[in-house]
Amino acid sequence: MPSLAPILAIESSCDETAVAVLRSPGIILSSLIASQAEEHARFGGVVPEVASRNHLLAVDPLARRALEEAGVSPAELGAIVATSGPGLAPALLVGASYAKGFALGLGIPYLALNHLEGHLLSPFLGSEEIPDHLALLVSGGHTQLTRVRCAGDYTVLGRTLDDAAGEAFDKTAKLLGLPYPGGIVIDRLAEQGNPDRHEFPKALMEKGNLDFSFSGLKTSVRYFLEKNPSLAKEPGDLADLCASIRKAIVGVLLEKTVRAMELSELYEVAVSGGVAANSALRRGLQDLCTSKGWKLHLPAPELATDNAAMIAFAALHHLLAGEQSSLNVEISPQWQVGNR
Ligand code: KG4
Ligand code: ZN
Repeated sequence: MPSLAPILAIESSCDETAVAVLRSPGIILSSLIASQAEEHARFGGVVPEVASRNHLLAVDPLARRALEEAGVSPAELGAIVATSGPGLAPALLVGASYAKGFALGLGIPYLALNHLEGHLLSPFLGSEEIPDHLALLVSGGHTQLTRVRCAGDYTVLGRTLDDAAGEAFDKTAKLLGLPYPGGIVIDRLAEQGNPDRHEFPKALMEKGNLDFSFSGLKTSVRYFLEKNPSLAKEPGDLADLCASIRKAIVGVLLEKTVRAMELSELYEVAVSGGVAANSALRRGLQDLCTSKGWKLHLPAPELATDNAAMIAFAALHHLLAGEQSSLNVEISPQWQVGNR
């Protein structure tokens, strides 16, 4: 990969304001995150207007600090990139507008990047080659299986028809009375529990189906708790419930990954997105790849959840191909990645 002046990336699609400075082929000079999770926890989920206001307060000081930590002056930057979708419109607007203003002021290229592309390539940050592989993207807003032939060539093989895997964790955690974001809490409690104590439904398991559906699981947990309210109270019972819920979600993810790998005749698999931090999923994928002889690519934990280094890395591939976006380009809250 030829070299390029350092780039500044801004990520503000949800409740994290993130800024990174990266030099090709993937050297992170700085990567900072200002999380608002605690503020949204009061509401049990992300409130778009609250997120927007917090991005507005955080983005400029964070960008200045990121440049300072990277030892890069604005005049040395080669381009500025921002997540332009998918995500919450009022949140995306802040990062994208800030980045455009910055690029306009410096007279350097601006690039609007797809957040999902950032996640997809995150397991390869720092590598010069992206192999032909299957990508399991599992985050709070998205769950999809994509064939990635190389950077820029994405074919979606399956995706969720309703809730994302992270959303399934977060919504069931809420039903259990656990704090937002609940994925990590369920994961931690599940480590002490018995995953075989309760059986929760797995949807769309018929042969050849690569799509996902997690809303039935959430409903089934709700009915279960209405019938057995005491089982979410005692720590041992709660741990068993968390382990059984995690087993249902992770079980579907693993099974569909195997199907997609076999159908596509691929030998390398990558996982990305916040749920890639899940311990049962990581263990399951590791065991699977050992038994099948597949190569597993996992992002570093700090690159699995939302961050701007992954946005900068994915942007590099576009910038090196000579692409840039017009300053008139609008944010795309529903922007998908790949064909189907
Ligand atoms: O990628 P991400 O930071 O944001 C989105 O783009 O959505 O993912 C956040 C999601 C949340 O749903 C969170 O609960 C989930 O990732 N998550 C986990 C774990 N850590 C984060 N889910 C299960 N187990 C974890 N250890
Ligand atoms: Zn994300």
